[in-house]
Amino acid sequence: EPSPIIAPSILAADFARLAEEVHAIEGAADWVHVDVMDNHFVPNLSIGLPVVQSLRKATSIPFDVHLMITDPDRWAPGYAEAGAHNVTFHAEACEDPVALAKTLRAAGAKAGLAIDRDTPIEPYLELLPYVDTLLVMTIKAGFGGQKFMPELLDKVRAVRRRISAMGLEIRLEVDGGIAADTIEQAAEAGADAFVAGTAVYAADDPAEAVRKLRALAQR
Ligand code: DX5
Ligand code: ZN
Repeated sequence: EPSPIIAPSILAADFARLAEEVHAIEGAADWVHVDVMDNHFVPNLSIGLPVVQSLRKATSIPFDVHLMITDPDRWAPGYAEAGAHNVTFHAEACEDPVALAKTLRAAGAKAGLAIDRDTPIEPYLELLPYVDTLLVMTIKAGFGGQKFMPELLDKVRAVRRRISAMGLEIRLEVDGGIAADTIEQAAEAGADAFVAGTAVYAADDPAEAVRKLRALAQR
């Protein structure tokens, strides 16, 4: 079983001190999660490509870019070209997921598929062989600081079973409300990559918070 990936979300960080906030979790975290929102796919606006390009020069930690945007077919490749390690786009927004995943991989990134809270996984199972990461939202995408929804754990379990049955080696990532009191349930359900915004950046010591989450996710 692969060791857990902990990916702090900078959506909960101080945007005026982004590089410092990333440096605070370097060495403790595996990836940094970058939430890109366009005020269209979700009713919230965050950061985009120019910030990712600048931040890329300030740290060497892998970027896990989560695109909550319309028309990822057009915009996602730019993030791969900017040096993102993993570029995740939403199934609900993508015109041609197989083509986009291939483009992302050709640009040197991992490809990720995200499934929002109210989206069933079944219509997308056939896409799994084309992606490296499957992101199952454990809240409705759009805002940090929401409460973890345990009813999504059934979806995580079902997806884990399908991944195993298909013999695939893809990361199963959960995002939304992941904290010390929820990460164990998510790990138990089969997740092996964990996004945590508030739980890391609202803590007095973000690196310590990451280490604590990792210990809880290890099984
Ligand atoms: C929300 C984002 C999440 C968010 C998680 O749509 O995709 O990555 O930052 O924040 P927390 O961990 O506070 O729920
Ligand atoms: Zn996210």
